[in-house]
Amino acid sequence: MSDKKWPDWLPLRQDLKPLSPYGAPQVPADAILNTNENPYAPSPALAKAIADRTHQVALTLNRYPDRDALVLRNSLASFINNLSGTSFDAEQVWAANGSNEIIQSLFMAFGDRPTLGFTPSYSMHPLIAKVIGVEWCDGGRRADFSLDIVKALQEILAVKPALTFITTPNNPTGTTVTLDEISQLADAAAKVNGLLVVDEAYAEFSKLPSAVTLIAKYPNLVVIRTMSKAFAFAGARLGYLIADAEVISTMYLVRLPYHLSSLTQAAAEVALEFQSELLGTVSSLIKSRDYVATELAKMGLQVIASQANFILFTGFGQEPAHLWRLLLDRGVLIRDVGLLGHLRMTIGNEAENQKFIAALQEILNGERQ
Ligand SMILES: Cc1ncc(COP(=O)(O)O)c(C=O)c1O
Repeated sequence: MSDKKWPDWLPLRQDLKPLSPYGAPQVPADAILNTNENPYAPSPALAKAIADRTHQVALTLNRYPDRDALVLRNSLASFINNLSGTSFDAEQVWAANGSNEIIQSLFMAFGDRPTLGFTPSYSMHPLIAKVIGVEWCDGGRRADFSLDIVKALQEILAVKPALTFITTPNNPTGTTVTLDEISQLADAAAKVNGLLVVDEAYAEFSKLPSAVTLIAKYPNLVVIRTMSKAFAFAGARLGYLIADAEVISTMYLVRLPYHLSSLTQAAAEVALEFQSELLGTVSSLIKSRDYVATELAKMGLQVIASQANFILFTGFGQEPAHLWRLLLDRGVLIRDVGLLGHLRMTIGNEAENQKFIAALQEILNGERQ
């Protein structure tokens, strides 16, 4: 909610007037651990390969891009097929400027009935719904943030949503939903002619298999992925959707003409050629996650078991906003996700993690004296 007063002459939609622009603070800090990015920058070899390819593309920038991004969509299909043993092709993949744009397109295509999600989860799902003017229903989770599958199934049947969102691993909790549970949710969504949207932004950090393996059985199940997290490519803005070809066909209706620039397409194609380098940091980030979780537990904090590249923790006995500020004063930027008593930190490189642990220890020692 915002207290900004809009001028009377501005014909802004009434329902937008109380909203605040979304965004994590972008403030200088020694350790930037607030937006679940991968802390490792591209190698000089990758940066050069992108520069070379985009140089070629720059020579053709008087022309619009391939508006269907077919080369890129084929590469994304092969990438997913290699990871998950599936056999998708470009017709079952859509690419856009970050997975946020994919989410927006889904609301635009399917949002003339209510939509449903289980919070706390990715806060942009309801916010994008609101901005598009789509009704959002909040299904909720148990007090420990796990998903109550029986209740979730009942809610789908009661609300009859066009779209039901499940994020696994979930942001901000890092908890997962099993393929068996996803199958049950997809089944329930099918009974009410709805799509089950599985947001897998953090899938590469999880041990569980991807829900893409269920699409052949459940054509109403769609999976959102991104190159922003494990893939260490957030600045390029590339998200994608894997779904039945009929679902992908609807994306042509709602996309803006030439939505994905030639430069983005080229950079993402090069990044996919460097996939082993880019995903090479995932296993060390997982080790660091488990190490940071152990260190927090040693400080007497409670950590929610995470399968993602971030940790939600509690038990620090003070207002999250206060601890957030004290950490920032020590050069460590983490995230206050608006959950009572909790803060979320993204796993950084070793030096950043150490800085976070040392700063937190110092603050808690000070408080406990
Ligand atoms: C669950 C989830 N989905 C989607 C996104 C959006 O990512 P992007 O638009 O960078 O692909 C995020 C980013 O934090 C996220 O946490």
